Amino acid sequence: MTTYRPSLANSGNSMTSSILGHAHLSADKAGSTKIHADKVNVFYGEKQALFDVSLDISQKAVTSFIGPSGCGKSTFLRCINRMNDTIPICKVEGTIEIDGQDINTRSIDPVVLRARVGMVFQKPNPFPKSIYENVAYGPRIHGLATGKDELDAIVESSLRRAGLWDEVADRLLQPGTGLSGGQQQRLVIARAIAVGPEVILMDEPCSALDPIATAKIEELIDELREQFCIVIVTHSMAQAARVSQRTAFFHMGRLVESGPTDEIFTNPKDTRTQDYITGRFG
Ligand SMILES: Nc1ncnc2c1ncn2[C@@H]1O[C@H](COP(=O)(O)OP(=O)(O)O)[C@@H](O)[C@H]1O
Ligand SMILES: [Mg+2]
Repeated sequence: MTTYRPSLANSGNSMTSSILGHAHLSADKAGSTKIHADKVNVFYGEKQALFDVSLDISQKAVTSFIGPSGCGKSTFLRCINRMNDTIPICKVEGTIEIDGQDINTRSIDPVVLRARVGMVFQKPNPFPKSIYENVAYGPRIHGLATGKDELDAIVESSLRRAGLWDEVADRLLQPGTGLSGGQQQRLVIARAIAVGPEVILMDEPCSALDPIATAKIEELIDELREQFCIVIVTHSMAQAARVSQRTAFFHMGRLVESGPTDEIFTNPKDTRTQDYITGRFG
């Protein structure tokens, strides 16, 4: 198997190359800050959904966002790859930096940003295309492969890294939608990996899966954190405890506290966190 690693730097887009050049400098500093959010406020029309959220998210680690339904976890997650741009009534204020670069600045192309910052949703959403095409699509539109052999190599390595290759190698041309739910979720993770992201956002990625498929995704998340900064929204505190090294607790649009997962779960500083983790509300 080839060790080819897809990188947007191959796209020949000078803006992209400079972003990645910057990323490269800090690529091996595990535990250092990858994402820095400062006083993020989000509004849906008149309604404010997030209030002054400031948070540093570590490189090469899994960070969980927890908190009761409607507290703003998904809204904050969507700020990190500017998915809120796609919601017309949504307005985002404040600063979010990735590797020190403001992602909301005019020179950032949201399409390029979303390749750097991939997203996985609750309901697996493969394209209505073959397994192969689901993974090949992104590298092709971003110009990451020069020919069929290179594209094949990206597809294989992405499916391997997503822990799916052995299950699909003999049926790459069959529809992605024909896979089981857990396989579909690994397929969309492979799709995200294929364009060489730095960050992978996951919004309740196991909520629609059975316990065995959930365990596989959790195992995969643990492997992927060696290479990526991962942020996962979960309503399962057990899952947050199993997969994440850091946890951020949100309540009513505010970030109440964040820190090492074991500290948040064993020794929370805020009574709201304590009430939530002991099941008093949520
Ligand atoms: N597309 C939207 N339009 C209007 N309001 C929204 C939209 N998405 C979320 N909200 C509101 O923003 C608040 C936070 O929602 P959300 O981020 O989805 O919370 P969580 O993911 O923690 O359940 C909620 O009050 C929700 O109703
Ligand atoms: Mg949500």
